[in-house]
Amino acid sequence: MSEPMTVSSQRYRLGYHLMTPGGWMNDPNGFSFFQGWYHMFYQFYPYAAEWGPMHWGHARSKDLLHWETLPTAIAPDENEDGCFSGSAVVYDNKLWLIYTGHHYLGDKSDPENFREDQRIAYSEDGVHFTKYEGNPVLMPPADNTKHFRDPKVWEEDGTFYMILGSQSQDGLGRALLYVSQDLKSWQQVSVLGKAKNLETEGYMWECPDFFRVDGQDVLLMSPQGLEADGDLYKNLNQTGYLIGTLDPETHTLERGGFTEIDNGHDFYATQTLLTSDGRRVMIAWFNAWDSPMYEKADGWAGALTIPRELHVVDGELHQQPIREMDSLRGEEWLRGTAEPGKAYAVPRQSEVQLDFGKTDPGKLFEISDGDHKLTLTLEPNNRLVLVRNTKDGERAAHLTDSSTLSFRIFVDTSSAEIFVNDGVRTFSERMYWQGALKLTTAASAEAVIYELERETNQY
Ligand code: FRU
Repeated sequence: MSEPMTVSSQRYRLGYHLMTPGGWMNDPNGFSFFQGWYHMFYQFYPYAAEWGPMHWGHARSKDLLHWETLPTAIAPDENEDGCFSGSAVVYDNKLWLIYTGHHYLGDKSDPENFREDQRIAYSEDGVHFTKYEGNPVLMPPADNTKHFRDPKVWEEDGTFYMILGSQSQDGLGRALLYVSQDLKSWQQVSVLGKAKNLETEGYMWECPDFFRVDGQDVLLMSPQGLEADGDLYKNLNQTGYLIGTLDPETHTLERGGFTEIDNGHDFYATQTLLTSDGRRVMIAWFNAWDSPMYEKADGWAGALTIPRELHVVDGELHQQPIREMDSLRGEEWLRGTAEPGKAYAVPRQSEVQLDFGKTDPGKLFEISDGDHKLTLTLEPNNRLVLVRNTKDGERAAHLTDSSTLSFRIFVDTSSAEIFVNDGVRTFSERMYWQGALKLTTAASAEAVIYELERETNQY
């Protein structure tokens, strides 16, 4: 067996985001709480900074901010070519992982020639996992294609529910709903939701999640195959949501159209957790499948976004940084009015708050190290445009109201996450900053800049 990759340079290592310890990371998996710890697993390939046979990497945290890397939880065995995305629940005093077994067919040389099934593993200490000897626990239904993955399981009144990403034989993406009493035997309840067409709802719904928040039923997922259309669907694949009401008889979701949840370049494959104090917290892979991931040169690739609390407001899903983030605030580098055109120093790990009040269309602000720039501009018709000076650098969000504008921006060593007007829209960006960072506003704004805890968060 080759040796795990190690990180060869600290230049892009993030200060307060969960990252791979070396090697490759994609989707967050198994976001859960067990025996006093938050657990986060993730799609992991330890032996190269490239996607490969998927393992589940593992970290735990007391506060969702400081993460301790634990041994790899599961690795593909002789019956699996990959342990694909899934979730975790607590049952019978154990932490159970529910994951997808990915299997190549034929001579295994064609990555598109595969089948998928669902599998489980368990742990009594939350560190060491054993695969269930009766795996697989679920095979695809007769009307399914090979796409059958990413189980998200939750418990309600002693019954387990699973929502699963799938493609029906007519080529449309969908989410299947199953129930179980023991995680080992599963019965299909319904097709909870299905794409209305290929162009706007996709051929496969990856990483589905289903929950109720603020009285609304929300299906969050990452559909594949949407066609770019103006400002919409500009990344290779998107993540977004359907909001509606679950019909208690048919177990199908009566819902509106698909809405992208984040308007940035680097956001995919979300997973949520209900905290013990009732918050629906979401985290995502802080990349997309077409992100360049320049940290590959340093022996690692991939990170997760900061955790964000979700709410439904006026029929839309809003995101806010979890309140635990406030505990990272250190020295204030600025508090007062930012004068137009003047440059203010921004620490490499920081929270920048900007309140423009009543806002006219025009350039708003820029964060730059000289070479790497992020610019936000409000155009007429409520179009808020983000430009980073990279190839395909523009992304835009359409606001319903832009009469006043405020921003919270979380800057880290190789990233920026921008929350607009208390999270009505967000932009998630990996930014490979090099030199000292400066903020310049084009209009005057009330500003606060906090340095966030500087030392590395992982041990
Ligand atoms: C989403 C995804 C999942 C799959 C995993 C494989 O990014 O394609 O559907 O389980 O990544 O790593």
